[in-house]
Amino acid sequence: MTDDASRILAADLLDESDPVIETTLRPRSLDEYIGQREVKANLAILLSAARQRGEAADHVLLYGPPGLGKTTLATIIARELGVNVRYTSGPAVERAGDLAAILTALDERDVLFIDEIHRLNRAVEEILYPAMEDFALDVMIGKGPSARSLRLTLKPFTVVGATTRAGRISSPLRDRFGATYRLDFYEQPDLTAIVRRSARILEVEITPAAAEAIARRGRGTPRIVNRLLKRVRDHAQVHGDGRVDETAVHEAMRAMEIDDEGLDATDRKLLAAIVQKFGSGPVGVAALAAVLAEEVETIEDVYEPFLLRLGFIDRTPQGRIATEAARQHLARLGIEVPPPRRPEPEMPPLWDEAILGPGEPA
Ligand code: ADE
Repeated sequence: MTDDASRILAADLLDESDPVIETTLRPRSLDEYIGQREVKANLAILLSAARQRGEAADHVLLYGPPGLGKTTLATIIARELGVNVRYTSGPAVERAGDLAAILTALDERDVLFIDEIHRLNRAVEEILYPAMEDFALDVMIGKGPSARSLRLTLKPFTVVGATTRAGRISSPLRDRFGATYRLDFYEQPDLTAIVRRSARILEVEITPAAAEAIARRGRGTPRIVNRLLKRVRDHAQVHGDGRVDETAVHEAMRAMEIDDEGLDATDRKLLAAIVQKFGSGPVGVAALAAVLAEEVETIEDVYEPFLLRLGFIDRTPQGRIATEAARQHLARLGIEVPPPRRPEPEMPPLWDEAILGPGEPA
């Protein structure tokens, strides 16, 4: 399998390979944005209120698995407010001075999007606190005993922070956000609507059944369904007449080794490792990461959330467990599934059996 195919479902990968298409597919307003109804409704109120007051909107924290639209929402927030957006990320801001340069360049009410905000270092975070709270920038001038702190006033602005897990953010930083919204995996009908919208923009002819078939394998993630749509389009173009129907979807998925649940080879390797090497678990995530030669963070942020959502793994205090549903899924695919190491839980006697005795009618 090619590297591209093996990573097609890894929603954390930036779409730098296809920036034009990625940008054209992104919704530009809350009205165009499909799904995440609650977040949209709350955000619409927050933005209207800020617009009416003519003030910078409150700082907004977005959290949830990768690929669900955090960057898109930040762009929409700025557009709805009629201001500029500046994009940066936790790892990109290395020194306090880097952040000071960004903050002083912002215009009144601009949006500053900080992706992976949990990865800001302490020194940078400490500059951010007074900036978010009082629009103040504390700079040190001089060194040693003659050093003094000077407070500069910034124009009011809005931070939109994004992270895969809210729990990763220090509580003083979390406290500075006026609103925190959790993005969840998209429901099938919403994903299908996104596939159809993207197909329209890309001028791809697609049948309703094909749109649903792509959505079903998209792991609840718009970035993934859009990527799958593009690969299926290629397949339909090369092997057929360019029309995307269910057959084209099935053939493209087979070529990419994506199964009916939307799992790719890495997902199956992860489940098979738990089942075959660790007796279906429990197993610690560090041991799994070592076996798969992946980062712990990649497993936790990219692969696990959807497997948890599918009910294919459970997290317990002892570690990860492959569920019976996962074992059955692997067995259906012809993958060897040895008996689980963990004992089956003891079933308590049924209530009416205990009262009436076995076999007696209730
Ligand atoms: N493309 C990617 N995400 C989308 C969304 N939430 N709504 C519409 N189109 C999208």
